Amino acid sequence: MELNGKVVVITGASKGLGAELSKLFAKEGAKLVIGSRNESGLKQIAEATGAVALKTNVANKKDVEALGDLAVKKFGVVDIWINNAGVRIPHRVIEENDMSRVRDMFETNVFGTMNGTRTALKHMKKQKSGAVINILSTAALTGRANLAAYSASKFALVGFTQSIRQETAPFNIKVIAVFPGGMHTNFFDEEIPTDFDKYMQPSIVAEKIIENLKLETPQDEITIKRTS
Ligand SMILES: NC(=O)c1ccc[n+]([C@@H]2O[C@H](COP(=O)([O-])OP(=O)(O)OC[C@H]3O[C@@H](n4cnc5c(N)ncnc54)[C@H](OP(=O)(O)O)[C@@H]3O)[C@@H](O)[C@H]2O)c1
Repeated sequence: MELNGKVVVITGASKGLGAELSKLFAKEGAKLVIGSRNESGLKQIAEATGAVALKTNVANKKDVEALGDLAVKKFGVVDIWINNAGVRIPHRVIEENDMSRVRDMFETNVFGTMNGTRTALKHMKKQKSGAVINILSTAALTGRANLAAYSASKFALVGFTQSIRQETAPFNIKVIAVFPGGMHTNFFDEEIPTDFDKYMQPSIVAEKIIENLKLETPQDEITIKRTS
């Protein structure tokens, strides 16, 4: 897929993987529309990339619809929509998880991705073209001790993504799932992993996502693990 001139919406773009994706898409000549809750971080990325930015909480359906409407108002179409916004909670056995935080995590990770996908598809089905990219995790591939709730939120998105892929095939819409391993981002501010220095830079993951999109036939599912 040629990325120059494509209209790309990215959620959770104020830092981490979303910020790196924004920078790389900008280099490719894409027109960016980005959203996240923190306006100051978002503004910095918008200034660096020429993106149009809107304060967006993906858990809020109206916010997400407004992000999609902004893209269409500004640029006429939505070519690529990346559901990247995500949160985690500290690693604990399930009985020790704060269930109100688990619910909030599901609001962002699961319902936020559903809100984004529904909004993207509303525009893409009319256009009969587009690509939706859902950022999952290797935690969506295998359950791991102390990660039950986060893992469940990402496993839920595997079924969601695969189902949407079947629904959208007749509309020439590509649906891609990305399964990254540990990335060195602010995701872990609350609890730094012991081997954090071995985690991948998010720019590496952003590059692989772009590489895949540029293929004549992008892969439906890509796993990006750290090498050490
Ligand atoms: N880091 C890892 O090891 C890792 C591994 C696999 C998968 N992932 C996934 O990769 C994605 C990006 O993570 P990251 O490592 O880049 O984390 P990060 O540095 O913490 O960035 C997360 C981004 O999501 C935004 N966000 C969080 N909740 C939001 C909400 N309700 N509405 C809108 N934006 C929201 C944050 O901005 P605001 O706070 O300004 O809203 C921020 O821009 C997530 O889906 C995560 O689950 C991460």
